[in-house]
Amino acid sequence: MSSARPLACVVLAAGKGTRMRSDKAKVLHELGGRALLLHVLEAQKPLEPDATVVVVGHQADAVRAAAADYQPDFAVQEEQNGTGHAVQIARDRALGGFTGDVVITYGDTPLLPPDRLQHLVERHRACGAGLTMLTMHLDDAMGYGRILRDANGDVLRIVEARDATEEELAIGEANAGIYCVQSEILFPALDRLKANNEQGELYLTDIVGLAVEAGSKIETETAPVAEVEGINSRADLARLEAVLRENLVRGHMDAGVTFLDPANVLIEVGVEIGADTVIGPLVQLRGRTRIGNNCEFLGNAHLTNAEIGNEVLIRQNVVIDDAKVGDGAVVGPFSHLRPGADLGEAVHVGNFVEVKKSQLGKGTKANHLAYLGDATIGSETNIGAGTITCNYDGFEKHPTTIGDRVQVGSDSQLVAPVEIGDDAYVATGTTVRHDVPAGSLAFNPRPDKRREGWVASFRTRKNKKK
Ligand code: UD1
Ligand code: CA
Repeated sequence: MSSARPLACVVLAAGKGTRMRSDKAKVLHELGGRALLLHVLEAQKPLEPDATVVVVGHQADAVRAAAADYQPDFAVQEEQNGTGHAVQIARDRALGGFTGDVVITYGDTPLLPPDRLQHLVERHRACGAGLTMLTMHLDDAMGYGRILRDANGDVLRIVEARDATEEELAIGEANAGIYCVQSEILFPALDRLKANNEQGELYLTDIVGLAVEAGSKIETETAPVAEVEGINSRADLARLEAVLRENLVRGHMDAGVTFLDPANVLIEVGVEIGADTVIGPLVQLRGRTRIGNNCEFLGNAHLTNAEIGNEVLIRQNVVIDDAKVGDGAVVGPFSHLRPGADLGEAVHVGNFVEVKKSQLGKGTKANHLAYLGDATIGSETNIGAGTITCNYDGFEKHPTTIGDRVQVGSDSQLVAPVEIGDDAYVATGTTVRHDVPAGSLAFNPRPDKRREGWVASFRTRKNKKK
């Protein structure tokens, strides 16, 4: 947002979040797979503020680490003496000498859309208001601060629910906790805050009454509850998770993705899905997962940081973590692609096959009961049922290299480090301990013997013992 007047953003994230009953700071709890605080920082990004200050306190180091990518300034509030105290700390420790507009948000309102915030700032500036804030209307505003207005409808002050009278509690207009304030109004008001309330804290909300007393203009804008709800408990977290999930799925639908059972998928923020992909029931897409166009997920798949090409078929019961799948590949049912698995174009990995840190070239197939770890496999190779790369000697992992057009017979063990050349054949049931040259057959001589009449004599012996 370009404007001559400087803009600072302050996010309050020092509180413990007692009502969460958690060892973890509230702002680190996740919604859609992303910490609450990061949702707020993401929403602020388009404002392009001249300064961003995150007030940290409870579990300061962990909160700092979580927010590091956004490169804000941090101000430490050692004792959490209230939201007003937190903003004092931001001013004193990070905004010395700042003059301009200050956007203040709480780290526990994750569904705030960026354009709502942008509009707040624009409106604030257009009206020349001293303070502009978002409010919401609820039938029962529960623990939220109530907006007190005079007979003309002008804002008088905010009263916190704990300090409110019965009459005030009946007010349905509540404080969303999102403000844009001129520093010239905010900074002196902060010095006048008093802890004369039920919690004995310095309430940021009291700056509204103080700004009114100082004769400055107060503007409000109503936001839908769903955009500005705060998270204070696990129940709030679950409720907003459902809202976010629905929003995300809707967004993917609008971009051309089909969901066969939209209520039963879990898509985290930041996941990308190409058009005409069809997602069946019980599919979880997490982290930085990217999926191409025209893919099909039959159901019950769990992907984290997966990179899936176009026209990939993911059958039932597939787990993929930090792995890549090329265009036109088929995975599952019951396959596990672990970190570093890299399947090329048109690869088939099927029933009970586990792949870890291995490359499979174009058209290669491993369709049944195999373990492929630390392997580099060429194209058009067939890995027979029950093949195992024996990659670990208890100390180190060793590589297996397999060429193009190789046939690895069923129930073979490839004892790494080992190399199998192009076009080689490994006979069924071979333990391969030495390199196999290109075009040759590897086998363990194991005579396949018969004892004629053995069954009859065996049964006679057994029957005698009965
Ligand atoms: C606050 C508002 C309330 C509003 C509601 C909107 C105050 C006094 N009340 O209440 O009017 O309706 O949000 O969601 O502001 N924090 C600090 N340091 C502190 C205390 C809190 O950084 O000393 C942070 C918390 O980490 C949290 C945010 O400020 O992210 C809000 O604190 P919280 O205790 O959740 O305030 P509410 O009771 O929800
Ligand atoms: Ca809150």
